[in-house]
Amino acid sequence: MKFFIDTANLSQIKEANDLGILDGVTTNPSLMAKEGIRGTDAINQHYLTICEMVDGPVSAEVLGTTFEGIVEEGKKLALIHKNIVVKVPMIKDGIKAIKWFTDNGIQTNCTLVFSAGQAILAAKAGATYVSPFIGRIDDGSWDGVQLISQIVNIYNTQGFMTEVLAASIRNPLHIVRCAEAGADVCTCPLPSILGLLKHPLTDLGLQQFLIDAKSMQ
Ligand code: G3P
Repeated sequence: MKFFIDTANLSQIKEANDLGILDGVTTNPSLMAKEGIRGTDAINQHYLTICEMVDGPVSAEVLGTTFEGIVEEGKKLALIHKNIVVKVPMIKDGIKAIKWFTDNGIQTNCTLVFSAGQAILAAKAGATYVSPFIGRIDDGSWDGVQLISQIVNIYNTQGFMTEVLAASIRNPLHIVRCAEAGADVCTCPLPSILGLLKHPLTDLGLQQFLIDAKSMQ
């Protein structure tokens, strides 16, 4: 399973990248706005900076919602860097645009996916990635990881090439369960990635090893 970081914060991207386990980055308009980025030039420059930091796919989301608007924006985003993946919302015009991008060799990430039916449409349009939002599904008392399993099963059965990118990850257990469910990619906030490191027996064990190591010097 590939690890992407789900943020537009450059210091968090650097911290995850320095671990050596980062495969890519996803952003969305909310994450970009949180960093105080305003205006097309600043947005494009920010994506370029991220692409120069991380050697892997970087999802950049379109802001338009019409077929023409999405295609025009996506073409410009794709020109920023070869690793840009155009992120497109799961709407009717979005599916049409994903098909257009597929036919024109531009990689896409179909976002805001909450059902297996939506995931089938994204795959039929040739999306490179499909992003089910598992944390937001859990928020409504459904099981987000169950949806990941269902989509993985459908894609394997049908031979779809679209990669399942588990998004809206909220904790380390989500990452572990997505790995079990067969997700191709997990895009995570930095604290969820770092949470995978934690175990009290590791801390206690290391403490004792350090004491014993000192006694041997
Ligand atoms: O990748 C999608 C993600 O950014 C949404 O996460 O926590 O806002 O549901 P969240």
